[in-house]
Amino acid sequence: MLLFVTILSSSEFGSVSSTTLNTTNGDQQILFLIKSELSDPLRALASWSNESTTFCQWQGVRCNNQTRVTTLDLDSLQLTGPLSPYIANLTFLQTINLPGNHFFGRISLDFGQLSRLQYLNLSSNSLEGEIPAMLFSSPSLISIDLSKNNFKGDIPSLGNNPLPQLLHVSLKRNNLTGTIPKSIGNISSLTYLDLSENLVKGRIPVNLGIHSNLQHLDLSLNYLLGDVPNSLYNITSLSYLDLSYNELNGQIPSTIGYTLPNIQTLNLGVNTFTGPVPTSLSNASSLVKLVLTANSLDGEVPHNIGLLHNLSYLDLSWNNLESGDWSFLSSLSNCKKLRFLNLNGNNLTGSLPSTVGNLTTELEILLMGKNNISGSIPYEIGNLVNLTALYFDRNLLTGIVPPTIGSLRNLQTLQLSTNMLYRSNPIFCWKPDTTESALVNGKPVNWYDTHNYWKLQKFA
Ligand SMILES: *[C@@H]1O[C@H](CO)[C@@H](O)[C@H](O)[C@H]1NC(C)=O
Ligand SMILES: *[C@@H]1O[C@H](CO)[C@@H](O)[C@H](O)[C@H]1NC(C)=O
Ligand SMILES: *[C@@H]1O[C@H](CO)[C@@H](O)[C@H](O)[C@H]1NC(C)=O
Ligand SMILES: *[C@@H]1O[C@H](CO)[C@@H](O)[C@H](O)[C@H]1NC(C)=O
Ligand SMILES: *[C@@H]1O[C@H](CO)[C@@H](O)[C@H](O)[C@H]1NC(C)=O
Ligand SMILES: *[C@@H]1O[C@H](CO)[C@@H](O)[C@H](O)[C@H]1NC(C)=O
Ligand SMILES: *[C@@H]1O[C@H](CO)[C@@H](O)[C@H](O)[C@H]1NC(C)=O
Ligand SMILES: *[C@@H]1O[C@H](CO)[C@@H](O)[C@H](O)[C@H]1NC(C)=O
Ligand SMILES: *[C@@H]1O[C@H](CO)[C@@H](O)[C@H](O)[C@H]1NC(C)=O
Ligand SMILES: *[C@@H]1O[C@H](CO)[C@@H](O)[C@H](O)[C@H]1NC(C)=O
Ligand SMILES: *[C@@H]1O[C@H](CO)[C@@H](O)[C@H](O)[C@H]1NC(C)=O
Ligand SMILES: *[C@@H]1O[C@H](CO)[C@@H](O)[C@H](O)[C@H]1NC(C)=O
Repeated sequence: MLLFVTILSSSEFGSVSSTTLNTTNGDQQILFLIKSELSDPLRALASWSNESTTFCQWQGVRCNNQTRVTTLDLDSLQLTGPLSPYIANLTFLQTINLPGNHFFGRISLDFGQLSRLQYLNLSSNSLEGEIPAMLFSSPSLISIDLSKNNFKGDIPSLGNNPLPQLLHVSLKRNNLTGTIPKSIGNISSLTYLDLSENLVKGRIPVNLGIHSNLQHLDLSLNYLLGDVPNSLYNITSLSYLDLSYNELNGQIPSTIGYTLPNIQTLNLGVNTFTGPVPTSLSNASSLVKLVLTANSLDGEVPHNIGLLHNLSYLDLSWNNLESGDWSFLSSLSNCKKLRFLNLNGNNLTGSLPSTVGNLTTELEILLMGKNNISGSIPYEIGNLVNLTALYFDRNLLTGIVPPTIGSLRNLQTLQLSTNMLYRSNPIFCWKPDTTESALVNGKPVNWYDTHNYWKLQKFA
């Protein structure tokens, strides 16, 4: 069949002049139609008019051996315009990769007809409206990324028809509302699910954790509430679990370290979890990042936490955790990769032991403010040569600020306010290349006001 199509340039987005095309293949005219609706300031689609080359060689276009378009791949090219429904006329498409442009408008229902579609990436555009459930009707689907757009409405109840190959779904950072559809639990092939930064409410469905092979689950920054179903903590394949910034409550199961043996990142921060930090966590030996900040956890910091040899980031701040005999701190000296340790805002009591100086020299941030720590700051703190931030503010510390702090050459912020420490007079100065300090003969000062917040200034 011979087709003659007249393409009229739109005044707003026109970049194809009025042309009469002759093609025996519908896909070329469809590509022209798509281009005609787009503004293309980088001239990324310049090749999309060269009639002396086959359209299969145009920028971002790939075809099968029957010259049908199978791939549209135009990543971050400042393309601006509506997401053309004509894309759905390229019926052999397997890959649509258009992230990082300025596509706006809705996704046409016609996209549901792309029965060969495997990869769809529309991340970081300005698309809006509801996400059509039809989009999830291709049984060939492997990966969908609609993150960072302006979609609203409910999360489509994907999983009600078979999606045997679906591995990856990201709807991150949209304005999706409603609840997490139970049917998502039907997709046992799914390894990556990111629904973070939306307005999703309600409970996490039990189904999500049953027959699940998830490796990466991010539900953070929503309005989820209630208990986390135990089935979720039973997903042995999980290496990344982020439930932070929700309204979840209940206890963290005591067995979590056994049931999530592969976990590398665990973030349950900014919820209302209660009870202890489970000691079984020390059996989750792959843990690299553990964040339990801003909950209502109590009891002692687990003594065996140092069994986590890969731990690099530990944030237990803003709970009601106790120091016990401080053996957790000497245990942490076994974590040779630890770079961030935040224990601010807990109920650590007693003297800070000198074993604080046995923490790894990799440590860059050490925060113990807003506790009830008494005694003096150990001189051994000066061993932690890589520290950039050190917070001991709002404790009951007494004695002299150890001059060894002067040897912390990377230190940028030292927070010692609201204690009963001695300091130099009139102002504490840190000079590089010297451990000399005027602190030793300083006078006692109680710092209870913001003026006691020091920003260290480096002297040239
Ligand atoms: C249209 O294209 C076909 C195949 O490329 C060619 O055989 C035919 O002569 C062309 N017709 C016109 C009117 O250009
Ligand atoms: C059109 O394609 C041919 C063959 O690839 C190439 O030689 C020519 O430079 C192209 N013309 C334009 C305007 O891109
Ligand atoms: C086209 O590719 C398919 C498989 O992808 C193959 O079966 C078929 O023989 C190929 N046809 C031609 C003409 O190369
Ligand atoms: C595109 O597809 C729709 C629906 O399948 C059809 O009605 C329309 O005629 C097609 N348009 C072109 C230009 O092929
Ligand atoms: C989608 O594209 C963005 C930008 O290139 C990329 O960062 C992201 O990983 C892609 N998503 C998937 C699922 O591959
Ligand atoms: C998304 O929600 C936020 C917060 O509720 C609101 O400020 C923003 O305008 C919404 N965006 C759209 C595109 O609806
Ligand atoms: C998918 O899940 C829903 C709700 O959990 C259920 O009613 C439905 O039967 C399931 N569908 C399939 C195909 O498994
Ligand atoms: C967790 O997994 C174990 C072993 O597979 C099973 O016995 C138990 O019922 C599961 N618990 C939940 C809440 O799914
Ligand atoms: C947990 O770790 C401890 C200490 O390494 C070990 O003795 C124990 O067998 C582990 N428990 C399980 C269930 O793996
Ligand atoms: C803080 O811990 C001490 C014991 O270490 C305990 O007596 C006290 O009640 C705790 N304070 C709060 C507010 O829980
Ligand atoms: C802690 O470091 C000191 C030296 O600062 C050393 O004498 C001591 O043996 C270390 N203790 C442990 C438990 O490693
Ligand atoms: C300090 O940190 C840097 C990188 O952040 C690292 O390369 C270096 O080994 C660390 N120094 C010590 C003494 O651990």
